Amino acid sequence: MSVNKEVKKITTNTLLKMKTAGEKISMITAYDFSFAKIFDAAGIDIILVGDSASNVMAGHETTLPITLDQMIYHASSVVRGVDRCLVIVDLPFGAYQGNSKEALNSTIRIMKETGAHAIKLEGGEEVLESVKRIISAGVPVMGHLGLTPQSIYKFGTYTVRAKEEAEADKLKKDALLLQEAGCFAIVLEKIPASLAKKVTESISIPTIGIGAGKYCDGQVLVMHDMLGINTEFKPRFLRQYLNMAQQVTGAVQNYIKDVKSKDFPNENEQY
Ligand code: KIV
Repeated sequence: MSVNKEVKKITTNTLLKMKTAGEKISMITAYDFSFAKIFDAAGIDIILVGDSASNVMAGHETTLPITLDQMIYHASSVVRGVDRCLVIVDLPFGAYQGNSKEALNSTIRIMKETGAHAIKLEGGEEVLESVKRIISAGVPVMGHLGLTPQSIYKFGTYTVRAKEEAEADKLKKDALLLQEAGCFAIVLEKIPASLAKKVTESISIPTIGIGAGKYCDGQVLVMHDMLGINTEFKPRFLRQYLNMAQQVTGAVQNYIKDVKSKDFPNENEQY
């Protein structure tokens, strides 16, 4: 039997057991009650309330504008839809970079006001003090290395990270530091599969990849990308499981047609 099926609720310990058992971890983003409910009932291991909400929910170009209050709104909606999976919330840009006290205060607000189970933040050595302080307050932390979208203006582009030796070496070192600091898992975003394999084999906590190849312990996709809600984004790493934009367009066009033709509502659809 799979580790997922054995447990009533997915915890950070369940994820460690999955890594040990060689069972891949499934993670998807969600930002509202209704989708969270569907994903949880479908059996997903982790829902990430990602700061990608800034892009896919609010229409911003980057993840930078989303605020802590807005993340708390999304996260509390998600938590109300979930019975079983682990819910992780991104600390948004500006809510933790100042110092470790700010990082802890933002985390405490998320934990108190949303009911989520863990937080995620971007970066390695530079956020280590914050990671340790948050974990010492009893909150599980997920790391995020490789392409870290909150640093987009430093990188300049969303292309694959850590192709050069120096950046790859820093990433390997950062993964070990995050593990030593007590992180329970690390997201690896848009890095070569061979590097993700080395990192995954060098640490005992799970790696969750997005555009980081098949050797990671789990995978994460943004729901709007994998469900085909956002059809303009077509990177190589994305597998699209539905063309929801097309299906919803068809459904709404049928509704418009039925209203205009006076077919809807009919006699059985009225009181
Ligand atoms: O915000 C987000 O959706 C993320 C994933 C891409 C990992 O951080």
